[in-house]
Amino acid sequence: MGVAFYPGSFDPFHLGHLDIVEQAVGMFGELVIGVMHNPAKPSGMFTADERADLIRQSTTHLGKAVCVEKFSGLTVDAAASIKASFIVKSARTGADFEIEQQMAQTNRAASGINTVVLFSSPEHQFISSTYIRQFAQQGGAMRTPLAPSCVIEALAKKKS
Ligand code: PNS
Repeated sequence: MGVAFYPGSFDPFHLGHLDIVEQAVGMFGELVIGVMHNPAKPSGMFTADERADLIRQSTTHLGKAVCVEKFSGLTVDAAASIKASFIVKSARTGADFEIEQQMAQTNRAASGINTVVLFSSPEHQFISSTYIRQFAQQGGAMRTPLAPSCVIEALAKKKS
């Protein structure tokens, strides 16, 4: 089926993202995860290099099926540069779905590349990088881990 491209800001990468990565590897066999900039989210927590490194650490169990790269510019240009057959995205809520539908149709009009929207397992569906950052920045305790352990450790280091 060819390589698929999963773009995102991943600030930080969490268990919902990992769920999508594992599903996409099962479907496509090979996945490039693109660490990108979301113009709607100007201020972040981790640098692009840090985000890419945390994703690599979180996906070691998937071996060569996953490759993590940083990209600037448009998702369609990044997808074309790696000859991706599909773009992979996820939607958690109805609001997400509407945004993803509009981006998928824009990206298809621009490049001809189709987007596959995947849904995480229900136990991961509510997880949001924005809220993980807010909890970390305010020192909020989390009874249930929402991100891989390397990300939890990196969040604790950013706070201290
Ligand atoms: O994880 P996010 O923040 O939801 O990822 C959004 C991202 C980075 C995939 C999106 O903002 C994006 O595609 N950015 C690159 C710029 C682009 O291609 N814009 C046109 C979208 S139709």
